[in-house]
Amino acid sequence: MDRYCLEAIGRIAGEERAPYAHITVDRLTPIIGAEIGGVDLAHPVPDPAFDEVKRAFLENQVIIFRNQTLTVAQQKAFARRFGPLRALPMADIDGDDAELVIIKASKDSTFVAGEVWHADGTADPAPSLGSMLYMHRTPEIGTGGDTLFASMYLAYEMLSPALKLFLEGLTAIHDGAVPWQGYEAPPGLPKTEHPVIVRHPETGRKLLFVNSGFTTHIPQLSPGESRALLDYLFALVAREQVLNCRVRWAPGTLVFWDNRCTQHHAIWDYFPHSRYGERVTVLGSVPTR
Ligand code: SIN
Repeated sequence: MDRYCLEAIGRIAGEERAPYAHITVDRLTPIIGAEIGGVDLAHPVPDPAFDEVKRAFLENQVIIFRNQTLTVAQQKAFARRFGPLRALPMADIDGDDAELVIIKASKDSTFVAGEVWHADGTADPAPSLGSMLYMHRTPEIGTGGDTLFASMYLAYEMLSPALKLFLEGLTAIHDGAVPWQGYEAPPGLPKTEHPVIVRHPETGRKLLFVNSGFTTHIPQLSPGESRALLDYLFALVAREQVLNCRVRWAPGTLVFWDNRCTQHHAIWDYFPHSRYGERVTVLGSVPTR
């Protein structure tokens, strides 16, 4: 690990955090991820506990709730405490609820959603604030189907000062057609230009905002330069395990990730077994420098 990386880890892992009075927060790593206890999401979370859940979300970027028994209405009610929900265009959905994304895999699957490092919907002008996935069924073999998450705060922080400065002046194109390569893409997919380095709208912290799931090129550079730079940044996210936490699911686990400062990667290591979950998405805002 180089010195920029070590200095960045030292800064982030050494940050002071206030104690919690109404919930428990068990951190997965010093960088990203925490299991939250002491809340039953089937009922409205009282404001003092909810304020702490929100703080834990901003501090840890990915929060995990175990042993929850939720209807879709209860999952949505909890998600709406963070903001309005995103309704997908009708052509995109696989059920009759436009706010619910079905995440499923079985012996008949030829692909699974999210099996690449990505943030959700970054081709949209205003990508989502966060996604909340509630797991109903995990693989019958009793293992497999974990999800990896990566902190884009640390990905930015571990770059050299010279590269940070260079990236600050750049934008990148995010294209909704990228996940459809090799398939017949539906019409009207979004394509948007975002800064390569953005500031989180609530924490004010800078982060790296390109991902291999949607980002195609950096228009200020030649095609070769753009490819080389994006490949370097994508490889950093894929390679640096210190950016990651890994969530092991069980039926009744709910995970809420901050889509503004993380990427995630579903692991399809359980074929031909099945996995089923339901995701709702909280609307976000336009990313800014
Ligand atoms: C996704 O939202 O990209 C899928 C995550 C997962 O299946 O774990």
